Amino acid sequence: MFKVAVIGASGLLGRAIVRELVSETDWQVVQTGLRHVGPQQVALDVRDEAAVDAFVAREAPDAIVLAAAERRPDVCENDPAAARALNVDAVRSIARAARPRGAWVLSISTDYVFDGTQPPYRDGDTPNPLNAYGRSKLEGERALLEASSHALVLRLPLLYGPVVDWQESAVTSLVPAVLASSQPDAPAAAMDAWATRYPTFTPDVAFAIRELLMRCADGHAVCGIAQWSGDEPMTKYQIAQRLARALGVNARLLAQTRPADATPRPRDCHLDSSRLEGLGIGRRTPFDAAIGAVLGGFEARSGTAA
Ligand SMILES: NC(=O)c1ccc[n+]([C@@H]2O[C@H](COP(=O)([O-])OP(=O)(O)OC[C@H]3O[C@@H](n4cnc5c(N)ncnc54)[C@H](OP(=O)(O)O)[C@@H]3O)[C@@H](O)[C@H]2O)c1
Repeated sequence: MFKVAVIGASGLLGRAIVRELVSETDWQVVQTGLRHVGPQQVALDVRDEAAVDAFVAREAPDAIVLAAAERRPDVCENDPAAARALNVDAVRSIARAARPRGAWVLSISTDYVFDGTQPPYRDGDTPNPLNAYGRSKLEGERALLEASSHALVLRLPLLYGPVVDWQESAVTSLVPAVLASSQPDAPAAAMDAWATRYPTFTPDVAFAIRELLMRCADGHAVCGIAQWSGDEPMTKYQIAQRLARALGVNARLLAQTRPADATPRPRDCHLDSSRLEGLGIGRRTPFDAAIGAVLGGFEARSGTAA
């Protein structure tokens, strides 16, 4: 039976991938986490090369989906060496462990490998990351493709989906400020209206990854670099407006027209998804429907939202 290892299965994207694979396939799915290991998961620190080797030798997966990373730009900026250990060196170790066993490796990367000045970006366009996160992910892409030709880099933009806390995604992290600004006499919440983002729903990414894994299982693995993106451009200010509407609150929002982040961020990294579209791969859930499901699900579990 086809066997997939999902590394980083406890994270925002990893959970969506596992949910998709377990509900839609009869494949064997092995899941790893580190600090938030669930009952179906094993702990694996991907910075430990010997542990990675032992894991791949023991499980002998046909495919590995690598969703473990340090994805917070500010954390990467403050400790680039720690970011490289996870986003570059660990990718190389996994690819090296997979190669002799013929396992296909799909590793997740980011639109932040581009500088955001000339969108849309095709998968072959020249990257020029502006921050330590983007640089580490670009080095990780190169480490993967140097170590194995039976591998795919999948670049993604801003993700959102079912969360266990608001801070898990840069979309839902706006919810507390949106809610606070809707209280009587509360000050307006400043929101970035400078950078354009393309929020992408994690279950849609998981759907595309399942389709990619099906090609691998059929002996037609897609290799090299591919990209997938939502197609609704939005600034964080506009995301906050749509969150307020979905939450049914009258938020007071202030559009910030200049970048205010300490870490430099690109202005518009719209990723061209035509390689996967050309293969008939992918699905896009409209933002309002998807965010409604995310907010409703969170409220039902925790009673924390509006
Ligand atoms: N989130 C976004 O908006 C976004 C946008 C574009 C691309 N991406 C990329 O998408 C991928 C998934 O991101 P995400 O948002 O799902 O991240 P996340 O929620 O922060 O999850 C990160 C995962 O990595 C695991 N992990 C962290 N350190 C580890 C280590 N040393 N060894 C093994 N596992 C480790 C975590 O496990 P524990 O929690 O159990 O410790 C968790 O499962 C990343 O490659 C990221 O760069 C994310």
